[in-house]
Amino acid sequence: MTAESIEPVSAPASRPVALVTGPTSGLGGEFARHLASRGYDLVLVARNELKLRALADDLRVGFGANSEIIAADLATSAGRETVIARLELGVEYLVNNAGFGTSGEFWTADPELLQSQLDVNVTAVMHFTRAALPSMVAAAKGTVINVASVAGLLAGRGSTYSASKAYVISFSEGLSGGLAGTGVQIQALCPGFIKTEFHQRAGIEMSSIPSFMWLNVEQVVQTSMKDLDKGKVISIPGAQYKVLTAVGSKVPKSVVRKLTNLVGRGRGRT
Ligand SMILES: NC(=O)c1ccc[n+]([C@@H]2O[C@H](COP(=O)([O-])OP(=O)(O)OC[C@H]3O[C@@H](n4cnc5c(N)ncnc54)[C@H](OP(=O)(O)O)[C@@H]3O)[C@@H](O)[C@H]2O)c1
Repeated sequence: MTAESIEPVSAPASRPVALVTGPTSGLGGEFARHLASRGYDLVLVARNELKLRALADDLRVGFGANSEIIAADLATSAGRETVIARLELGVEYLVNNAGFGTSGEFWTADPELLQSQLDVNVTAVMHFTRAALPSMVAAAKGTVINVASVAGLLAGRGSTYSASKAYVISFSEGLSGGLAGTGVQIQALCPGFIKTEFHQRAGIEMSSIPSFMWLNVEQVVQTSMKDLDKGKVISIPGAQYKVLTAVGSKVPKSVVRKLTNLVGRGRGRT
């Protein structure tokens, strides 16, 4: 099978369908398991086809969920087009979760890698939401979760990654107004540090982060779901991050920048 292809790995979907990007690791995997446990069939999107197939098997055995897999690189327009085509057929639930960070200084980073980050973290989120909404609005039912980050709420934690997540938050907040009364919900999920492959993949050293600052994927997904039930557009898992972001919104940005640079060493990450 070529990359960027759609393949049903089991019987055609008869249950509501949720599409999750980046389920081969970390947070996306937990979203896929959670939605399967709630009776959804899945469309699983990432690059690693072997892991997608293994996850589809797990979801079938564990929850009786049927999965389609789309092996696609979301940094490419061909990869995104395959996902857009599937979304235009209609899904009830979309989790825009795939994303990545990078290490090093902005001025020495590979420009192509930075463009890929923008394409995965922002372009894919915008186009996938655009493709999913028409059928959701027509059905007066649907949910879009866009995974952002606390980094998008607090200035001074790097450049391109934070900026990409700030876009996702602002985009989701803006859309939530337009979607009011349509029966479709949108959420910007803003976690702090989560134990996943994220930092290792990005090459970011995290040994100095105190244990109380770490979240786990179950906690993040549970908070996201509870906040959807409450109609919250911005979901911030963990009391420590609720306090941090609340304080951060009350003090001048110059103070936030100083603090985030002091605590998180603003350098060494883009
Ligand atoms: N971990 C944290 O501390 C943290 C904090 C705040 C927000 N977040 C956000 O949470 C989301 C999930 O991250 P995670 O922590 O679960 O990271 P992760 O363990 O590294 O998982 C990232 C997922 O994204 C997929 N992905 C990455 N690049 C892709 C590409 N070009 N095309 C298609 N899929 C791609 C990966 O799949 P393949 O490699 O198989 O393609 C993988 O399934 C991200 O948006 C991240 O920015 C993470």
